[in-house]
Amino acid sequence: MAPSVSAPTLFDDVPEMSPAKPAKKAKKESAPEEEAPPAAAKPRASAEDMAGRQREISVSEFFTKNRHLLGFDSPLKALLTAVKEAVDNSLDACEEAGILPDISVEITPTGEDRFKVAVEDNGPGIVKDQIPKVFGKLLYGSKFHKLSQTRGQQGIGISAACMYGQLTTGKPVRIVSRTGKKKPAYELLMSMDTARNRADLHDEKELADWHSPHGTRVEIEMEARYQKGLRSVDMYVKQTAIANPHLELTYVDPGGQKSVYERATKTLPPPVEEIKPHPHGVELGILIAMLKETTCRSLAGFLQEEFVRVGAKAAEEICATAKLSEKAYPSRIAREEAAALHAAIQKTRISAPPTTCISPIGEALVLAGLKKEIEADFYTALTRPAAVYRGNPFQIEVGIAYGKPGGVGLELTEEGRITKKKKENEASEDLVADADEPIRILRYANRVPLLYQQAACAVTKAVIQTDWRRYGLTQPKGALPIGPCAVLVHIASVWVPFTSESKEAIANYPEIQKELRLALMEAGRQLGTYIRKGQRLRKEFDKRSYIEKYIPHIGIALQEILDLSVAERDGTVKTLEDVLHRSRKF
Ligand SMILES: Nc1ncnc2c1ncn2[C@@H]1O[C@H](COP(=O)(O)OP(=O)(O)OP(=O)(O)O)[C@@H](O)[C@H]1O
Ligand SMILES: [Mg+2]
Repeated sequence: MAPSVSAPTLFDDVPEMSPAKPAKKAKKESAPEEEAPPAAAKPRASAEDMAGRQREISVSEFFTKNRHLLGFDSPLKALLTAVKEAVDNSLDACEEAGILPDISVEITPTGEDRFKVAVEDNGPGIVKDQIPKVFGKLLYGSKFHKLSQTRGQQGIGISAACMYGQLTTGKPVRIVSRTGKKKPAYELLMSMDTARNRADLHDEKELADWHSPHGTRVEIEMEARYQKGLRSVDMYVKQTAIANPHLELTYVDPGGQKSVYERATKTLPPPVEEIKPHPHGVELGILIAMLKETTCRSLAGFLQEEFVRVGAKAAEEICATAKLSEKAYPSRIAREEAAALHAAIQKTRISAPPTTCISPIGEALVLAGLKKEIEADFYTALTRPAAVYRGNPFQIEVGIAYGKPGGVGLELTEEGRITKKKKENEASEDLVADADEPIRILRYANRVPLLYQQAACAVTKAVIQTDWRRYGLTQPKGALPIGPCAVLVHIASVWVPFTSESKEAIANYPEIQKELRLALMEAGRQLGTYIRKGQRLRKEFDKRSYIEKYIPHIGIALQEILDLSVAERDGTVKTLEDVLHRSRKF
């Protein structure tokens, strides 16, 4: 596989697809042959021929061909995606079980362009019978149908990583899991039967002396590429530590270097409650399916039972607006009646969904996370109140780290000239940008760092649309502001609207845009106050240095004009210096 780094764009296909002019020419040249009698134009394929070729496509076959949709479009990205899927699952499992997460990530080179990714957690473990389905079947999981904040949501993540490993190395994956001290640890070697979208078990055994009382270890060998930089596994690990201060993470990179990210708090995020869908977010097709499937025997009962925030009064109002009986049998509601019901729901005032289903990081812990991993002069953080898009509650948080202690990337050369510091590595790993670089955006969705597709993300758009010049940064028109600054943006939601299954960028819902804008403006104002104060102090400092420099000259001038003695001149200079000193504000 070509080790391409950049994600494919729409335009990547253009050269192959549009040889426009030569094609026209070719058409002209072949014109006489095309004018052959129509009798020769035999149908190329009959409906029967086509029927013979039509068959079901398994979801794993589909994603094998379209693995870019899952984040496996380049060996570089594949490594990150695999680590990310495994770590996300470990964190979700630990939090759901109420266990303080202890996770290890180890990447070992096994050959040219080949690595073994091993992720181990101290979570609740996975029941043995479930292991083949979890790791060997796409679209299988516990989070898709649940409306509460989790990192995973689709039921594709880890099985796709296993599938990619198998596809590129032909090797099975190794899973070890144990569900408790009194239970044995099981080791399974398995691959995926992509035609049937199910696991193919190679070996299975009990491990007598597994070192951990509970948890899961997954090992995947894959074709990949490792590179340091802003979109590397190293960066993902560091950013994960910022947004998950309760996590203890050990990371061993392919060079064998070990880093330990210690937890900043021993308190787990509060448990999230599962909610039912909010009626304002339901689409007509889903409403019809819900009406068919419900076990409720009356329409009013259905509305109250299947949705959140619908009481007897709201149900009565909806039925009246839709001109339907409250006692109507839900599964007998016809299509047109369902449309009227859908319209009536939208017209009825229903209070916003509860926010116990989401768990933001919180201002104090955003600050703690930033301070732990990023060295800066100024920090600020804020959490907006919860809002709703398409019936789904969500909450936006913003944190800012500004200023680079120890300089802004400038240095003095031996010849005494000031130049920009040379970077050891072209892709600087500093999370705070240099003073003359665009600021860094640290995007998070449900505490998971998003490292790819920055330009396509609603967060980036909101940062660009914010007027940072008001807050003391320079900003070219329609671009990111410039300055030694990192802006963390977190969206916590029961369903994060990603632009694709690879979960890299957030879709542009107006409600989300609005909240992002408000949060960025509020944090920006705090940054502006800090920068302006710094500017004021700098100005005052410059003025003072200027006056200080001239006070001795004023002494000499006064000595000449007023014929002062040396002692009187020095006394006057001292008095002027004292006055200046007493007036300082810093
Ligand atoms: N380390 C783990 N410990 C416990 N359970 C796990 C672990 N990893 C996965 N699971 C279970 O396996 C399921 C499938 O995981 P998978 O990553 O494929 O999907 P997901 O996390 O539900 O969604 P997404 O595709 O968005 O990641 C999870 O829903 C979870 O129930
Ligand atoms: Mg997952």
